[in-house]
Amino acid sequence: MSIENKVIDESVQGEATLYPVKDKQAINGKKLYLESYGCQMNFSDSEVVASIMSNQGYETTRNVDEADIILINTCSIRENAELRVRQRLTDFKKKKDKNPDLIVGILGCMAERLKAELLEEEKLVDIVAGPDAYRDLPNLVEEVGTGQKAVNVLLSRDETYADISPVRLDQGGISAFVTIMRGCDNMCSFCVVPFTRGRERSRDPESIVNECKDIFEKGYREVTLLGQNVDSYRWNISSKGEIKDQNIPTTNFAQLMERVALLSPDLRIRFSTSHPKDMTDDVLIVMAKYENICSCIHLPVQSGDSDVLFRMNRGYTREWYLERIAAIQNIVPNCAITTDIISGFCGETEEEHKNTLSLMDLVEFDFAFMYKYSERPKTLAERRFTDDVPDEVKGRRLEEIIEKQREFALMSNKKQIGTVQKVLVEGLSKRSSEHLCGRTSRNSMVIFPKLSFQKGDYVMVRIDSCTSATLLGEATTINS
Ligand code: SAH
Ligand code: SF4
Ligand code: F3S
Repeated sequence: MSIENKVIDESVQGEATLYPVKDKQAINGKKLYLESYGCQMNFSDSEVVASIMSNQGYETTRNVDEADIILINTCSIRENAELRVRQRLTDFKKKKDKNPDLIVGILGCMAERLKAELLEEEKLVDIVAGPDAYRDLPNLVEEVGTGQKAVNVLLSRDETYADISPVRLDQGGISAFVTIMRGCDNMCSFCVVPFTRGRERSRDPESIVNECKDIFEKGYREVTLLGQNVDSYRWNISSKGEIKDQNIPTTNFAQLMERVALLSPDLRIRFSTSHPKDMTDDVLIVMAKYENICSCIHLPVQSGDSDVLFRMNRGYTREWYLERIAAIQNIVPNCAITTDIISGFCGETEEEHKNTLSLMDLVEFDFAFMYKYSERPKTLAERRFTDDVPDEVKGRRLEEIIEKQREFALMSNKKQIGTVQKVLVEGLSKRSSEHLCGRTSRNSMVIFPKLSFQKGDYVMVRIDSCTSATLLGEATTINS
């Protein structure tokens, strides 16, 4: 399974990712164990952290028992995500009790949300560093060395870590994440991200294009451009749409993606996440123009009911969303469309829930992440509304959503039977060393006999059968 897939699965199931990081410079004899939770952006941040720490001479280990320092990069998106991290911190505390020199640091969104509170609570951690404070980690570690607890949760208006070359945590991998912007200015009422990640800011396009080029030269064949709302990427353009500096070219998301696509036809491009209120036709037109931009859009709808969407402060209606779907289908035919759905948001009636089900019938999503609403402290929803849908009703509605999605996922895969798909090989299939696995442009996983193909090859595969999660087929020719 690719790292990308691991991370996607884990944002749903909440398992930890363990990162093998190779030492980059002279080692200092100390070992770092890094564990990450949450979204792809957190994963990408962990690569920045690995880079900063390896420049300080830390060698990384997969074995937590030999670590001198444990860093856990955390997520706050739902209550469950935080509960899991708390459990891990309790596990680490037992190790700390046995080894008082062991340093434990909490990074990421939960660190930002709870700040110094985490230091007081049961003395679980020594370091608290928010998402914009990773450059300060070496100083924070040093402070702990002098017997203090160390906190930096300052959010920045301009930190993008543009000059830090991330240590790729799956060395020899095929697919890499590249963060193109940080933070979010949207204030969806259910969402904690604007509080944990701060204001939206875009990264210099030169540094993005250079990083993608470097990745390609190192053998990677796929990049995923990451941001909470990639459609609002803008360089040298003010929030009012004015040019900031006449001497510098402006870049929007469509233009950035085109520049990356032009690096090589053998480099596949994906992106996440698009926002329905901001996704413009120019992005779709660029997608249609370049074969190496994958035919797959993740367009979280959250709810199929306009009143719920209004309470969620999403900035679009059901009709607007359906119009954007129609635009995708017109401009990028055969594009896979995936989504996120929340069940049981504040005040959601049975009829409003049925509107989500009926929207699913209209769109027929290829894949969806589906969640029960979880109230988060300080969000607009927590301040304005009551979390009044009983847990069993949220659960039952979620089941209905999942059940429907299961049918559409299977239908989506069945439609591929008989077609020939260009598959980028990611490695051996998990279940059989005689089979390879890889993805289609639409992001479906395909399993097929290995023959003489290798990781990183593009292979034309005829799809013969499927399950709701996987396509099965046989190679026809190499397309190189
Ligand atoms: N920036 C992306 C999503 C980031 S969070 C976007 O705007 O779509 C990923 C997903 O987590 C969201 O799309 C939403 O479906 C879910 N989510 C966020 N906050 C949540 C909450 N409080 N309860 C349940 N699900 C939530
Ligand atoms: Fe959260 Fe909305 Fe921003 Fe996505 S766009 S990160 S859901 S506030
Ligand atoms: Fe979680 Fe923070 Fe990502 S809250 S989903 S790790 S931006």
